[in-house]
Amino acid sequence: MERKPPESRQGLSHREVPRVVGLLLTMALLNALLYLCLDQFFSSPRRSTEGPRPCPHGYFKMGQMRNCSPWLSCQELRTEVRQLKCVGEGAVKRVFLSEWKERKVALSRLTSPEMKDDFLHGLQMLKSLQSKHIVTLLGYCEEDNTILTEYHPLGSLSNLEETLNLSKYQNVNTWQHRLQLAMDYVGIINYLHQSPLGTRVMCDSNDLPKTLSQYLLTSNFSIVANDLDALPLVNHSSGVFVKCGHRELHGDFVAPEQLWPFGEHTAFHDDLMPSYDEKIDIWKIPDVSSFLLGHVEGSDMVRFHLFDIHKACKSQTAAERPTAQDILDTYQKVLNSLGDAVPSQTREML
Ligand SMILES: Nc1ncnc2c1ncn2[C@@H]1O[C@H](COP(=O)(O)OP(=O)(O)OP(=O)(O)O)[C@@H](O)[C@H]1O
Ligand SMILES: *[C@@H]1O[C@H](CO)[C@@H](O)[C@H](O)[C@H]1NC(C)=O
Ligand SMILES: *[C@@H]1O[C@H](CO)[C@@H](O)[C@H](O)[C@H]1NC(C)=O
Ligand SMILES: *[C@@H]1O[C@H](CO)[C@@H](O)[C@H](O)[C@H]1NC(C)=O
Ligand SMILES: [Mg+2]
Repeated sequence: MERKPPESRQGLSHREVPRVVGLLLTMALLNALLYLCLDQFFSSPRRSTEGPRPCPHGYFKMGQMRNCSPWLSCQELRTEVRQLKCVGEGAVKRVFLSEWKERKVALSRLTSPEMKDDFLHGLQMLKSLQSKHIVTLLGYCEEDNTILTEYHPLGSLSNLEETLNLSKYQNVNTWQHRLQLAMDYVGIINYLHQSPLGTRVMCDSNDLPKTLSQYLLTSNFSIVANDLDALPLVNHSSGVFVKCGHRELHGDFVAPEQLWPFGEHTAFHDDLMPSYDEKIDIWKIPDVSSFLLGHVEGSDMVRFHLFDIHKACKSQTAAERPTAQDILDTYQKVLNSLGDAVPSQTREML
């Protein structure tokens, strides 16, 4: 019997090998893709917000909208928006859940004419600071004292504990997601301190509940700033500083430089009260972050890792406090290091 020449057998495997390798590569690629998709889906449902490109100035996009649409005019606000029910009220605005083209929207109305300056300042800030950190503006009518914004059904951060306590949100009530919220919050402060309009201070924040009421929790579990009615400008190079309101402040939620410095026997006088800078926002960060971290398994471990940076935020000397960017970097490092040490349930599952 003639044996087949070795070349022919080799010839056969030469043809087979690429096919097998190709198949294996395809499978590996599919696996990798599947892993990436699952990872995306499980460990970071809220990070899926990234992607949509922002609209040009004067336009908005929300929810499933494909295209950017121009801000609604007075005429459109009057005829196309149906007011449903009051969902919130502060000193400046009364906020109504409303409907526009079968979408839920938030219509804010000025509460009283004395607050008109704050209302217009807030509108100006909303118009100029549109970004992923700020609630989406849909339209406004200065003549009618109305502002239309995207509606966030989970409401303000004041409701955070109640919301995360619901059984359907148990999967996001983890230290990982809560640290992400703290990063969102510091990210907003950082944005305001380095905004296109210069360094802006979040003045409407003299106590924790008030501060929390100025931010909204989105359905994707991220935070946006909503109430920009008191964002005065600091300009270090031209010596411009701020005062948050004209009244005496008390307590240790506000920064020490916001307190009347001349003792209780000297009556408060706004004219004599020194001004200050954006570092008052830094002083408040540990309290807000601690609230956001809450009391779930791992919260205290994260607090422990944030101890040093939070201590620096509480420096009596404003200039010695870190910047919001410094804090954000530290939070990111802590998230990365703990993320490696304690694999999330998702990763264990896969
Ligand atoms: N887009 C929105 N979606 C859902 N809830 C909202 C929205 N806008 C406002 N709210 C609710 O209304 C409340 C009051 O809104 P906002 O802080 O803008 O009013 P304000 O009068 O400016 O408050 P302040 O007294 O701080 O000046 C918020 O804390 C929130 O609970
Ligand atoms: C949440 O993310 C989805 C998916 O990217 C997006 O379509 C939706 O607009 C986001 N919702 C909010 C309230 O930001
Ligand atoms: C969370 O839910 C539990 C039981 O369902 C309840 O006892 C507790 O008071 C709730 N906490 C908050 C902050 O709503
Ligand atoms: C801050 O002041 C400097 C010097 O007066 C000026 O050039 C700059 O434009 C100011 N910045 C803002 C944001 O107003
Ligand atoms: Mg408010």
